[in-house]
Amino acid sequence: MLTSGGDAPGMNAAVRAVVRMGIKSGFHVIGIERGYAGLLENEMRDMHLRSVSDILQRGGTVLYSARCPEFKEEWNIARAKEICEGAGIEALVTIGGDGTFRGALELTRRGLPCIGVPGTIDNDIAASQYTVGFDTAINTVVQMVDRVRDTSQSHDRCSVIEVMGRHSGHIALYAGIACGALAILVPEIPFNLERDVITKMVATLRTGKQHFIVMLAEGVGSAVDIAEKIESLTGIETQPVVLGHVQRGGSPTALERVVASAMGHHAVELIAEGKSGRVVVQRDGRVTDLPIEEALSMSKTIDMDLYRIAGDISI
Ligand code: ADP
Ligand code: F6P
Repeated sequence: MLTSGGDAPGMNAAVRAVVRMGIKSGFHVIGIERGYAGLLENEMRDMHLRSVSDILQRGGTVLYSARCPEFKEEWNIARAKEICEGAGIEALVTIGGDGTFRGALELTRRGLPCIGVPGTIDNDIAASQYTVGFDTAINTVVQMVDRVRDTSQSHDRCSVIEVMGRHSGHIALYAGIACGALAILVPEIPFNLERDVITKMVATLRTGKQHFIVMLAEGVGSAVDIAEKIESLTGIETQPVVLGHVQRGGSPTALERVVASAMGHHAVELIAEGKSGRVVVQRDGRVTDLPIEEALSMSKTIDMDLYRIAGDISI
């Protein structure tokens, strides 16, 4: 098993479930450190029942994570397959995002059965309604923005909050609604600052609103630039807050731990059934699975109903 790409709270719960269920199912479980980079360097350790004690509540990943661009090269995938064969690895659970699943698909095609588990705070895996890390990340954002709101309110200011999401606005949308943001800017939907932010601010000023939260996903632009424009166009003191990696850490929420445990458990069930090249997903509230190719061919769009709700009530 390995964790790859950006880490996410709850990855440890998934790792724990894979180890415990793996051992229960009669497998010998090996943890590969630092994702595909560690696999190419043979960084492996045996995992036992007690190797995963006391990690359920910890953020990050005890297996470490990494990005490994060279894993896209054919000869490295062939080498990884050989390294796994040499170590007696007969199946691999890969916990990460869609890039991680592409690597898993390549390995599966070369004869190493892989099962993917969605782990990314971005919640941008189209095949799954939920990815491990999302709930904790949005709760962290909400806690931080509540603090910003206290001081923003005391000083009649506007705060522009930049959250993670280079290509996806799920964190911005969910946290934006939960924080009562006046405007939510996401990469999936083109925006016009004048129409979507300034006009709304001016209209709400007339109804007595005195402080504002604007939420934007990093893929849309920089909070610093947008704050400058808002201040110059409205005259309202506006400050940028870039939350950064604080969003990726912290103790996973209860929901996170439960879903990650169920997903890790299901990954091992699939291996025990001799399945390969599948991704564990959550659909209609149930943990299930589908082929990696199918999962990768889907593209996730933003929840337009939620986006509309946000627009209708932040007035
Ligand atoms: P995530 O898995 O969170 O989306 P990345 O997109 O960075 O994060 O992918 C994680 C890792 O998956 C990459 O660093 C690389 O090692 C591997 N990967 C990504 N794309 C491919 C690909 N097309 N083929 C093989 N491996 C890939
Ligand atoms: O894990 C996904 C993500 O958080 C994206 O939202 C963000 O763009 C990216 O990772 C940043 O990761 P890093 O700083 O590790 O490159």
